Amino acid sequence: MRIALFASGNGTNVQNIAEYFNGDKDFDIALIVSNKSDAYVLKRAEKLGIPSVVLSKNEFHDRDVILKILKDYEIEFIVLAGFLLLIPELLIREYPNRIVNIHPALLPKYGGKGMYGDKVHQTVVDSKETESGITIHFVDENYDNGQIIFQAKCPVETTDTPDDVAAKVHQLEYMYYPRIIRETITDILDNQ
Ligand code: GAR
Repeated sequence: MRIALFASGNGTNVQNIAEYFNGDKDFDIALIVSNKSDAYVLKRAEKLGIPSVVLSKNEFHDRDVILKILKDYEIEFIVLAGFLLLIPELLIREYPNRIVNIHPALLPKYGGKGMYGDKVHQTVVDSKETESGITIHFVDENYDNGQIIFQAKCPVETTDTPDDVAAKVHQLEYMYYPRIIRETITDILDNQ
């Protein structure tokens, strides 16, 4: 199964997923796609030896561009890992139940447009939540809205800063996201 990872920022999840699948005969991280030309994830891609492309928002919405690239790399499954743009409908139609996202909170809370990375953890702390966590879900036309595949929780202490919560959530992401990707794809293949 040839997988593309979409990311807009630092890319620690991309790195973790790429290392997890490195050398696997059934799963190939074939491409990294970003919408930001200065995203650190592109440096990681280079170091990992994985091809990467940068596309503008318009190019993401242009089927002649986005679908051609994914076809050129024979991409069969898409993983969002800290990707900021809304996924265009044309991509969701082309990859039904084959695009997953990770969100750094317990959806349906603290999701939606603009709820990204540190903003999420700040809001969780401001709201005096006693727990947070991760949600892995299929992607549909709306932000953070598709069917939930998996959630895991971590405690939030009254003394925790947003950075503390981010660190706990990142640990959950590194622990679970690669395995859930593997299980989700395996389910798809079993049901084909
Ligand atoms: C991750 O925590 C991911 O869950 C979050 O962005 C971070 C990216 O970190 N995604 C969202 O907030 C999506 N709404 P990374 O670039 O170090 O992997």
